[in-house]
Amino acid sequence: MKNTLHKVMVIVLLISSCSVSENRPEEPFEMEIQELLSKMTLEEKVGQLNMLKGLYSTDIYKQETDLEKAVKAGQVGGITPYTDIEQLIKWQKIAVDSSRLGIPLLFSFDVVHGYQTMFPIPLAQSCSWDLEAIENADRIAATEAAASGMNWVFGPVLDLCTDARWGRNMETAGEDAYLASEIARARVRGYQGTNRRDSLTVMACAKHFAGYGAVEGGLDYNGAEISERRMREYHLKPFKAAVEEGIGSVMNAFNTVNGIPGSQNDFLLKTILQEEWNFKGFTVSDANSIYELIPHGVAADKREAAIKCFKAGSQTDLWSEIYMRELPNLVREGIISEDEVNKAVRKILKVKHDFGLFEDPYKYLNPQRQKQLLGAKEHRESSRELATKSFVLLENKKSILPLNLSKYKNIALIGPMNDSRQFRDLVGNWAARVDVEETVTIVDAFESRVKPITPYTQTEGCGHWGKCDEAKIAEAVNILQNSDIGIVVLGENGYSSGEAGSKTDISLPGNQEELIQRLVKTGKPVVLLVMSGRPLVLTSIKDEVDALLMCWQPGTEAGNAIVDVLLGEVNPSGKLTMTFPYHQGQIPIYYNHLNTGRPPKGPDDERWGITKYSDAPREPLYAFGYGLSYTTFDISSPILDKNQMSMSDTLQVKVRVKNIGKRKGAEVVQLYIRDKVANVSRPVKELKGFRRLELDPNQEEIVQFNLTTEDFKYWDAGMNYSIEPGKFDLFVGNASNQVKHITFILKE
Ligand code: BGC
Repeated sequence: MKNTLHKVMVIVLLISSCSVSENRPEEPFEMEIQELLSKMTLEEKVGQLNMLKGLYSTDIYKQETDLEKAVKAGQVGGITPYTDIEQLIKWQKIAVDSSRLGIPLLFSFDVVHGYQTMFPIPLAQSCSWDLEAIENADRIAATEAAASGMNWVFGPVLDLCTDARWGRNMETAGEDAYLASEIARARVRGYQGTNRRDSLTVMACAKHFAGYGAVEGGLDYNGAEISERRMREYHLKPFKAAVEEGIGSVMNAFNTVNGIPGSQNDFLLKTILQEEWNFKGFTVSDANSIYELIPHGVAADKREAAIKCFKAGSQTDLWSEIYMRELPNLVREGIISEDEVNKAVRKILKVKHDFGLFEDPYKYLNPQRQKQLLGAKEHRESSRELATKSFVLLENKKSILPLNLSKYKNIALIGPMNDSRQFRDLVGNWAARVDVEETVTIVDAFESRVKPITPYTQTEGCGHWGKCDEAKIAEAVNILQNSDIGIVVLGENGYSSGEAGSKTDISLPGNQEELIQRLVKTGKPVVLLVMSGRPLVLTSIKDEVDALLMCWQPGTEAGNAIVDVLLGEVNPSGKLTMTFPYHQGQIPIYYNHLNTGRPPKGPDDERWGITKYSDAPREPLYAFGYGLSYTTFDISSPILDKNQMSMSDTLQVKVRVKNIGKRKGAEVVQLYIRDKVANVSRPVKELKGFRRLELDPNQEEIVQFNLTTEDFKYWDAGMNYSIEPGKFDLFVGNASNQVKHITFILKE
């Protein structure tokens, strides 16, 4: 190792003493980078833009290049994904000792909701509305990833979606651009920390830029049609927030937007990202997406794909190997500018420099440190806490929850995922590095915490893919008949959502509803816990069961977190961040829709009078922002410091929040606005602020929001980001459909 370090240092020093180009940058490291660049052949330069696979030799991603040879030839900038630290050390050693210039590699991985300690899926995390806890989750994920050799992570996912059929909803922060932007900032802070030299810090990658969540029909990889206004005021917002927070890299989306694939979209990659937002980091294609220009039908061959993507602003190539194959010749032929290649290479070298990899290429590759940090006790505790905050209590008739165990002589615990470590059931998709044996199942937690007080009998009732056959149903019914209460855990397993996890039917899978109906018929109380990576249609069972708790996929500490909430050791406080449809035919359904020219007026609205379905309500089953607690909060009407606000003013909005129940709990107070008259139709509500606060029984607090004119701006008919005076509605409450209302005037 000493020799290697020595070699790298010598190279850097030697390089520093070489002649420099005219535009000599001021900063010493930029000089070093410039010097290094001047030593590189075209192949070595493009090599830095070439990100190859360490794993996954499936048919779609078959790698043509021999990885070791390519590293030795200086033709690889980074490797992803690979998790065996000893192998990473070997590759780094080849790069540093055996390639001509000894430039170290970047190592990257998809760290979407944890590395080894799995946190709840991101959609679940967003239901906590707890920015600090989310930031902390990503700090821990980054710590574990960095301790395993990674310095670059592919997260956060900043896509927004209003279609629960899309499997990748599980990776997102839900349907709202404002909340997702706040979460984006928290995640960037969590992953990247404040000091790139700190070897437990990683560079984050915002993905998938942009409009991936709008794929038609919720079908993954499908095309999307998005107006410029919708793109700017919705899909781009979380990315803008991440760029403002200093994110280091951005990954393009696979799909076409208005016919143009993400990797070739110069409006997004150049006009928006570079010119308007002044993004300082670099862009990366999604896996093989440069190649995918060919099946998209916008490039005849790899050469054309390389030209189109590079010119559009896709600076590095993930897995397609097309840049390595095509760019050097394209530069020689004068079709691609070497200056543009240099610009991209400089960015990669700068990142490597900033991480201190030139001084110590092995600083992330310390197996000892890895052993100490992976799955550390405090990491698991944080995961458990966030999981409890992410559960959403949808129903709780006669306050059956929390369970008072002393009331029951025996419990039936029913469900195929209760004791399962398969199919990422409890940990969710993107749990690639997880050691499933480390997962606390629901049965584990019942054994240690329920059984000592009340005996329970566990049965599956159903198969993993939602298929409940008669024998399993009969057994479950029989067990429940001989018990005092049923705790039933159903829903989708971890493989049912995530990438390529689109579905047409988002009700409970298979014949799970039949199982529930049969269980309910026993007359015994039934508490249903739902696991899933997307909103489900729960209409036919919501009134049948006594309580309904949305648990998503809670992560490594799943069982403990579930029992914490079942027993009332933690009071649930999650609020939905995606609308739950009444019927899947309502999709896309979201709270901040337009009013239409025929909004509902009252129960007697006749056929042509209102925008409605003839066979289902217009309203969802559960609205954005909704979630119950074991206590009750009273939120007063909003009070404004002024009824008329000028353009330079700040509007203060105050509400009094009081815990009027008997238990300590957390409430999420939400503030929405509506622009009554504008030059384009505006949503019926838009979230503009929220506050999560914990209150003891009888405790009250004044919550204050400050709104500035920035909060009232929108993209007008001429596509100017503008503000218009006029009347606004302002709503405050604890769900998008449970609010108190006031109006105010914005003056010229
Ligand atoms: C996904 C990305 C991911 C990449 C690398 C792609 O299939 O869309 O989100 O970062 O693979 O694993």
